[in-house]
Amino acid sequence: MIITGKYPNLRLRRNRKQDWTRRLLEESTLSTNDFILPIFLIDGKNKIQPIKTMPGVYRYSINKLGKVVDKALSLRIPMVALFPYIQSKSKDKDGSEALNENNLVCKAIRYIKKKYKNQIGIMCDVALDPYTSHGHDGIIKSGYVENDKTIEILTKQALLQAEMGCDVIAPSDMMDGRVGKIRKILDKNGYQLIQILSYAVKYASNYYGPFRDAVGSKNLLKSDKKNYQMDFKNSIESLREVALDIKEGADIVMVKPGLPYLDVIKIVKDNFKIPVFAYQVSGEYSLLTNGIRKGLINKDAIVETLVSFKRAGASAIVTYFADQISKDLK
Ligand code: PBG
Repeated sequence: MIITGKYPNLRLRRNRKQDWTRRLLEESTLSTNDFILPIFLIDGKNKIQPIKTMPGVYRYSINKLGKVVDKALSLRIPMVALFPYIQSKSKDKDGSEALNENNLVCKAIRYIKKKYKNQIGIMCDVALDPYTSHGHDGIIKSGYVENDKTIEILTKQALLQAEMGCDVIAPSDMMDGRVGKIRKILDKNGYQLIQILSYAVKYASNYYGPFRDAVGSKNLLKSDKKNYQMDFKNSIESLREVALDIKEGADIVMVKPGLPYLDVIKIVKDNFKIPVFAYQVSGEYSLLTNGIRKGLINKDAIVETLVSFKRAGASAIVTYFADQISKDLK
């Protein structure tokens, strides 16, 4: 700790006296370059469908996707993340719809790439939960999510997304060894420059509820995800997860959820000095939104929260607030 003086010579409040001096002394800043906007997709035509548990967030049919991507582009948000709401008739126990080259995500990637070329990045989750009839992220055998069988499918899902034009492959399944296998299949097929953003540190969290509603897996899921996602009592374990994923070829790592895990963002950044992204998840979004709508807290709490991720060491934030806050920041 460096102390350069003492009261009354030193008065820290001097530096806070006016808005201009506070602006000069900002340690962390927030810009629209820091955001990734998640977009939910749905089948059909002309749909912009509200999601009940996420006020202000919608599901878009492909022909309406332009509306939200145009907005992201005009706000200079660098990347969108695509998540599909799959109809139950297309779900099965192996999540085979994930490998259908005409599934919602594939169609959306093709649409965005064709219309916007490389003006905006596309990130896609690699995981089976939107596609399985049981809502888990992988294949189940005797009640257990099978690691190696699941990875076989995930590598195919990742390759398919790359072939469609996805820029950033984001495995969010928490299987062991999947980053290495995905890197290998991408490289073998000529996709050496496709980035891998690994959800290296993903907790079995109580904050995912609204998202599961948004992708239609909530009512299907009969058990928790604790045998693959991390225990929220642990932080040192996150360093092992990150170390492995870096060795396997991850370009960027994600910590998820966001606000309850600022300590984890910080230790990962401090220990590895690699790009770390934070995911402010659906439950965080909906709690803040409802609190603001009810007048319990004011709207500036959103920026305060987003800045906390930057302060902790995150380079970027996946947030459902990306579009509304970018408007204010501009
Ligand atoms: C699943 C996935 C989840 C989220 C993103 N990808 C939920 C889960 O693990 O059950 C949650 C995102 C959010 O809550 O906003 N692979």
